[in-house]
Amino acid sequence: MADPIRQASAAKGEAAALRLPRTLVLVGLMGAGKSCIGRRLSDALGLPFVDADTEIEAAAGCTVQEIFERHGEAAFRDGERKVIERLLDGQPQILATGGGAFMDPRTRESIRRHATSLWLRADLDLLVKRTSRRNHRPLLNKGNPRQILGALIDTRYPVYGEADIVIDSVDGPVEKTVQRAVDAIAAFLSDHPSGQAAARSESKTHDTARKAGE
Ligand code: S3P
Repeated sequence: MADPIRQASAAKGEAAALRLPRTLVLVGLMGAGKSCIGRRLSDALGLPFVDADTEIEAAAGCTVQEIFERHGEAAFRDGERKVIERLLDGQPQILATGGGAFMDPRTRESIRRHATSLWLRADLDLLVKRTSRRNHRPLLNKGNPRQILGALIDTRYPVYGEADIVIDSVDGPVEKTVQRAVDAIAAFLSDHPSGQAAARSESKTHDTARKAGE
């Protein structure tokens, strides 16, 4: 189905029938599209959207960049964990997290206990392209963004792989990635109606698009 409008309404129709028992947490590197896809999913699923970084900034009264500059990354991670724990303690919603959040073992455990996680996996070229549009990300301002993102892929992707659901974030119409997400969420919920994977050894990848050979 190539027509983006038809794709969008198909995703919306299918998504409207989905009832998320838990908050859906979007995980992925900077530029993976967590906020963009999160907003679309929020619209399609009829759930509120919240962005953890925006909440951290509201709580701190300054930008993420300023928190890094004034207090350092460790203080940011501390605040990030507290804000995410607060956000998980509520009605189901779509929660976009900053790229480092899922790397914190305590945050990851809170997400595992209280939410369903979805990793938006993207390749290096796409991340470099998307993140080059703005320069508000402190970690990428430290050097060559391609090198930094490449190193983060190496260290973070094995951990992001612990997410309940994995889909590929692709270049091109956003509807395509939204449709993949909706299909993958539906597949996960049909196996795990509570929204929680029963055991860590279980298959965690519900990437229907990949299974279809795309
Ligand atoms: C970070 C990602 C950023 C933000 C902070 C640190 C990271 O969020 O939380 O700059 O460690 O990857 P986005 O992934 O939304 O850009």
